[in-house]
Amino acid sequence: MTRPVVVVTRRVPEEVEADLAKDFEVRLNTDDHPFSADELKEALRTADALLPTVSDRLTAEVLAVEPLRARIIANFGVGFNHIDVNAARARGLAVSNTPDVLTDATADTAMTLLLMVARRAGEGERHVRTKAWTGWRPTHMLGTHVTGKTLGLVGMGRIARAVARRAHHGFGMKVIFHDPYPPSPQEAAALGAEPVGSLDEVFAKADFVSLHCPATPETRHLVNAERLGQMKPGAYLINTARGDVVDEAALVQALKAGIIKGAGLDVFEKEPVVTDALLTMENVVLLPHLGSATRETRIAMGMRALENLRLFFAGKPLRDKVA
Ligand code: DGY
Repeated sequence: MTRPVVVVTRRVPEEVEADLAKDFEVRLNTDDHPFSADELKEALRTADALLPTVSDRLTAEVLAVEPLRARIIANFGVGFNHIDVNAARARGLAVSNTPDVLTDATADTAMTLLLMVARRAGEGERHVRTKAWTGWRPTHMLGTHVTGKTLGLVGMGRIARAVARRAHHGFGMKVIFHDPYPPSPQEAAALGAEPVGSLDEVFAKADFVSLHCPATPETRHLVNAERLGQMKPGAYLINTARGDVVDEAALVQALKAGIIKGAGLDVFEKEPVVTDALLTMENVVLLPHLGSATRETRIAMGMRALENLRLFFAGKPLRDKVA
């Protein structure tokens, strides 16, 4: 019996590649280059399934390819704003993602950014590496205390809840949040998190605002000049969600003008390009989209995408259906 052909657009951990090869005829991207639109079209034309990642822009134009052989897009990742889901649905393509398995790793990354920017860890490391350090003194490189401060969460899905748990129970922070689909009062109480009536309240009251909403047309530039202006002058912005949620130019202006104190960013509007001004700011911590980047998590993400592929080709419902 012929096995379905799967194109895997980027290298995934070898355990995942080996397991994929047990059930599928797998085409790997051996040199791990980012696929062009033409390569994505070719994959959709010649394979039964595509296993893409956030670096693949599956636009309506790409998905309009003829003839279309692929029947499923099993995304490696939880976010799927790089896939035009409506266009995929219109073409009869199933779409799945990989929720749950990256929750803890991404929450850890949000806390890493929060602690690093509050305690000037990136700046301090650069200080030591450049041999600028002249020794301990009581007023040297003072940061912001985290314990007792208020963390404001924009969105209260799986990752935000994991951040709330860490921040409240681990670091003694007060946690507030706003989400149109909030957790039950019991669940919020167990996390030590308190709902507030609006996003405006989150931005105005928090010492640290951490973003955990999906990237949709509605959340594009949700953090704009006006919202940044609502934040306390000593506050910090943390983004492990998607770059699109923040107007990066407005953020640069707010940082330059001292409207907010700093930012910890794992995601950017035009990845992998980062606005030049951010690269020179000491009060900004920049990571290259490492949210889910632990070996354990990336294996689990790959296995979850594989599970969706297996279910699909066995004619069963997808575990993580997006479309
Ligand atoms: C995700 O899973 O969405 C991560 O951001 C990596 O794409």
